[in-house]
Amino acid sequence: IQSKNIRNFSIIAHIDHGKSTLADRIIEKTLTVSKRDMKEQLLDSMDVEREHGITVKSRTVRTFYEAKNGHKYQYNLIDTPGHVDFSYEVSKSLAACEGVLLIVDATQGVQAQTIANYNIAMENELVIIPVVNKIDSFNANIEQTCQQLIDVMQFNEEDILYISAKTGQGVDKVLERIHSVIPAPTGTADSPLKALVFDLQYDPFRGVIAYLRLFEGTLSKDKTLRFMVTQAEFNATELGVFLPHMQPTDVLRAGEVGYVVTGLKEVQKVKIGDTLTTTTDPSQQPLPGYKESKSMVYAGLFPSDDNDKDFQNAIHRLALNDSSFCYEEERSEVLGKGFRCGFLGMLHLQIIRERLEKEYGLTVLITAPNVTYQVLTKDGQELRINNPVYYPTFDKIKTVKEPYGVVTITLPEEHVGDIMKLATSRKGIFIDLNYQVNQTILHYEIPTSEIAYHFFNQLKSLSHGYATMDVQFMDYREADLVKMDILVNYVKIDALAFILHREDAYRVAADLVMKLKHTIPRKLYPMPVQVVVEGIVIAREDVPPLRKNAAVSGDKKSISKKQALLHRQNINKRNMEHMNIQLPQEVFNSILDIN
Ligand code: GTP
Repeated sequence: IQSKNIRNFSIIAHIDHGKSTLADRIIEKTLTVSKRDMKEQLLDSMDVEREHGITVKSRTVRTFYEAKNGHKYQYNLIDTPGHVDFSYEVSKSLAACEGVLLIVDATQGVQAQTIANYNIAMENELVIIPVVNKIDSFNANIEQTCQQLIDVMQFNEEDILYISAKTGQGVDKVLERIHSVIPAPTGTADSPLKALVFDLQYDPFRGVIAYLRLFEGTLSKDKTLRFMVTQAEFNATELGVFLPHMQPTDVLRAGEVGYVVTGLKEVQKVKIGDTLTTTTDPSQQPLPGYKESKSMVYAGLFPSDDNDKDFQNAIHRLALNDSSFCYEEERSEVLGKGFRCGFLGMLHLQIIRERLEKEYGLTVLITAPNVTYQVLTKDGQELRINNPVYYPTFDKIKTVKEPYGVVTITLPEEHVGDIMKLATSRKGIFIDLNYQVNQTILHYEIPTSEIAYHFFNQLKSLSHGYATMDVQFMDYREADLVKMDILVNYVKIDALAFILHREDAYRVAADLVMKLKHTIPRKLYPMPVQVVVEGIVIAREDVPPLRKNAAVSGDKKSISKKQALLHRQNINKRNMEHMNIQLPQEVFNSILDIN
């Protein structure tokens, strides 16, 4: 097929607005997959995706469409995730496209992620086709949704399409619109090869598989290939396209989307965003690649058994497949060897944990998450702290800055009061409020640490599920923060330390010791749990012993027996320092619950 008949596009939308369902219909209507193999949300193939009912990874599929004008088009479709935590996936996919279908659910209208995704598409200078979905639903408010698209994003009324991805109504119009408004890719097949690596996957037998969008040139198996940034070279063992399963082909040409099996086993040699070229006729300039993703939260990940090597391999391979997940090695006195990992948000963290458990069969321990702090010490050092263990002692600190984000919240008018209260209680600074057709758009500046934990859930519950949000990192600002050290049985437990606002310290400490009292596994003797801030114990509770203490129990034992028992208990107490304190996941969860 000629490149003028190729269209590369993505489907973008707020979570649950029907992207994957529309992708299903497009695949069905272009008969890419036989009826027998068709299943719902065909492209959501990961276990975690099917369980949560959400898209986590972008997927690609090549389809062929016989248009009404008699031409045959190659449509390369990239399905993208909708949740805020995966918007990095979206921006990655969009760099491989010339256009997008922007889906809006008519039962919900324009939501925070609709606006965020629209902005990403505009930044990438893509053609946007606005599509109102779920018109079959009893709750659909089609006129209002259309008006929001016009008011909030300045679309023309006549450009908006109306569909039901569920029944297929209107989908034909979408297929026609794609080839008539989305431009064909530019680039020529006989220039030097220039292909963008927009995703990676690791196969234990075949090594790294790179997903490519060819911007210039031709890719075939007979040439030695090179990644321009990492300089790694290889000969392809296979090339192919996604149907959506991998289908080998002999060549890929400018404008096309496909994959190359590199055979490379060292995952560090390949990076998402790199440019692939040939060694014989290399391209002069690599493609611009991607902005580095910015981790919002960090947490320690530790293997809960001694499976160090497997754990390490799993982390490397996950990071290859998910470039927004970053990690470095860390050592904890209590938990041993592990990794300090960066995530785009709490759902991202949860998904990574589930993938480690499901795809790699590992059980992991995750410490309480935190954000990155900028610390200026009195002797002039500037430190970036993403692990409370390395937070300097209070007498050495001059100033500390914490990250702030701009939060966009969309919600129906009746919940505005509650949500403004919530934002204020999370130290939010009000920016503005706009009323659109039956939808309110609020902007706040909020410390990222306050958004990272339960903000999203509280937002959902206070608004009965109607509010949605999006966060953009803004800047670092000075804040009055303290480090909380937690001592169990007079021993400082490094993995439990965390950083918080001074004004919250007493409240959080009191709650925390109560929680820890019930989650730390008991021993034969009572164990004090103490919270220390700037050298002062600000809260304490005791984890009760498994058995009664002989010395205080009222048994009518002879004095000598009691003394013997006491003696044994004392020896135990002396040994306690060296005893291993068990920290099950619930202990870390108690920190999370309070924040
Ligand atoms: P994420 O990938 O998680 O962002 O979701 P998505 O945008 O891919 O949404 P998905 O296709 O998973 O659809 C979400 C829900 O809406 C599913 O329960 C679908 O069955 C339902 N749905 C999708 N399209 C329609 C439609 O046209 N009409 C009705 N009534 N329901 C629909």
